[in-house]
Amino acid sequence: MDGQREPALSPDETLHGERVHAHIAAAIRAAGGWLSFERYMDLALYAPGLGYYSGGAQKLGVGGDFTTAPEVSRLFGGCVARQCAQVLERLEAGSILEIGAGSGRLAADLLLRLATLGRLPERYMILDVSADLRARQALHLRTLPVSLRERVVWLDAPPSECFDGVVLANEVLDALPVQRFRRAADATFDIGVGLEDEAFVWSAVPADAAVAAACARLERAAAAPWHLPYESEYCPRLAAWAGSVTAALRRGVVLWFDYGLPRSQYYLPERSDGTLICHFKHRVELDALRRPGLQDITAWVDFTALAEAGRASGFELAGFTTQTYFLTGAGLEQELGALAAEDPARAARLGNEARQLVLPGEMGERFKAMAWQRGIDANLSGFALRDLRHSL
Ligand SMILES: C[S@@+](CC[C@H](N)C(=O)[O-])C[C@H]1O[C@@H](n2cnc3c(N)ncnc32)[C@H](O)[C@@H]1O
Repeated sequence: MDGQREPALSPDETLHGERVHAHIAAAIRAAGGWLSFERYMDLALYAPGLGYYSGGAQKLGVGGDFTTAPEVSRLFGGCVARQCAQVLERLEAGSILEIGAGSGRLAADLLLRLATLGRLPERYMILDVSADLRARQALHLRTLPVSLRERVVWLDAPPSECFDGVVLANEVLDALPVQRFRRAADATFDIGVGLEDEAFVWSAVPADAAVAAACARLERAAAAPWHLPYESEYCPRLAAWAGSVTAALRRGVVLWFDYGLPRSQYYLPERSDGTLICHFKHRVELDALRRPGLQDITAWVDFTALAEAGRASGFELAGFTTQTYFLTGAGLEQELGALAAEDPARAARLGNEARQLVLPGEMGERFKAMAWQRGIDANLSGFALRDLRHSL
């Protein structure tokens, strides 16, 4: 924690937190006193009407819990738009599917820039689990000219009909529930959640064969031997989820943006407590068992697992690089020029925003971009400056 005072909860937040707590406590009791962390995280984030993403918390922006690259600056959406334009040009036409569109800012920025580039998608589809964020997206996109906003459609499930174009997601993979494990000298444990006097507590049980095998695979892939005991996490549903949301893409490119690492660097000996992190009112909170339903829970993305998921779903790995190199290669310079020309008074602020997006100590290196392609050789400019695929 950062030494500041604990943010106070509003009466609504307190009530909501109590409801989510009661719901998860009932699930723990019904399961005999123990839940896997993956199930706990699933309920805390996605329990219908209660979970962080299914309930009404504000989540993004100044009054919310965290900030993302599209919220930092229009430069992000502008660069992603330039990358999409390259794909849409090669395909001659196509649509975009954005997964987890947050406040709708990225969608708006993309459509505005694609319009000036003369490469508007036929449709801009949004797939988001959060009813509350879908409403916010609709409100934000209402500010766009009709010719742009009429292209936007919200889906309740991944598209059932094939399409050509681009699928993209910024900071969605990190919210997928993860399995926690502890590798000790003589055994592997599944770290889940139990109840003590109605409070949630970490509780380890011997791992089943699947968790033990997954843990052994990760240990073999690590760049150096682990010092035991070693705790971390992995995302068992990553491949199935990523495969299902991209299945309808017949020809085109999938763009993933998130914080994470190649597997050998993720599971370094010194990262012996994993990467689980929560966000609450712009503070980093390390205890994932606090404030269920009120705080975001995330884990870094194992980009080697994501690359494997792409291949298993019939895609070719088209690129992997840092956010800095992606944005620079996709056209950050042109985007800075274009936005400064639209509003010269913003030029200095744009410089600050660009620094936040690309400096190594900010978002530049922690965040990565990965591209999958199918049916085209996209030759993507965002991945041309620095190819990190060898690190996966
Ligand atoms: C951290 S926010 C990022 C929002 C936005 N992409 C941005 O960069 O500002 C995560 C978004 O993904 C959505 N989301 C989370 N899990 C999802 C899932 N399994 N399927 C679809 N959307 C999901 C959330 O509702 C939210 O809109």
